[in-house]
Amino acid sequence: RRDTIYISTGSSELDNILQGGIETGSITEIYGEFRTGKTQLCHALCVACQMPLENGGGEGKALYIDTEGTFRPQRLLQIAERFGMNGPDVLDNVAYARAHNTEHQSELLVAAAGMMAESRFSLCIIDSATANYRTEYNGRGELSSRQMHLGRFLRTLQRIADEFGVAVLVTNQVVANPEGGPFATAANSVKPVGGNVMAHASTTRLHLRKGRAESRVAKIICSPFLPESEATFAITEQGITD
Ligand code: GTP
Ligand code: MG
Repeated sequence: RRDTIYISTGSSELDNILQGGIETGSITEIYGEFRTGKTQLCHALCVACQMPLENGGGEGKALYIDTEGTFRPQRLLQIAERFGMNGPDVLDNVAYARAHNTEHQSELLVAAAGMMAESRFSLCIIDSATANYRTEYNGRGELSSRQMHLGRFLRTLQRIADEFGVAVLVTNQVVANPEGGPFATAANSVKPVGGNVMAHASTTRLHLRKGRAESRVAKIICSPFLPESEATFAITEQGITD
């Protein structure tokens, strides 16, 4: 069995509340409203995961499943520059695929496992894990079916985390009616999509919200190991910083 590795986010405050970063062997979920930095964190980690262990890296490649078309290789180059890494090499070590629907998203995991058996990956990203499920299964009548399929997808991800010792990072949106359907509850709060299925699948849940200007606030939500604490970070040219 491999030891757990913590991959640095690029922000020391955020790394601190995560005990070093995003951990291998389990699923970490990042959820929050639009433009809170979920995709930016994914990009930063794609670079960090390639760095040596002593620099907060995972000494492995990254695999990126993109459901929203917001992946930007150019952004990886900016982040690579911060760490003095060779840009083309960094890009070579990121396997990228766009997932068009939930069926495709699941098929990509089979191919991903094949690649991970061939060479060392330290990170697997799904940005976002739930968006395709939300568009394909709408309405109350389809809720149980949606949850069943989402659960199966997340179990496959957990197997990948276990088998290949990769950090699995999934992003998720917040909505007023996480259970789906045309009506929201009267409660004035937004919740992550996916209900109990999503909540149980992720070992660590990180909620992001906007702070002042370009700052963002991350809060750990009900991790079995970590206290509920907050960290402030920034999104800059260099990626994720303090
Ligand atoms: P959704 O996917 O829409 O739910 O949002 P998200 O949480 O994924 O947001 P994302 O990570 O895309 O964050 C968007 C924010 O990152 C923007 O508000 C920008 O301020 C910042 N950002 C994105 N790209 C860059 C960049 O190249 N340079 C800098 N400095 N900031 C950037
Ligand atoms: Mg995004």
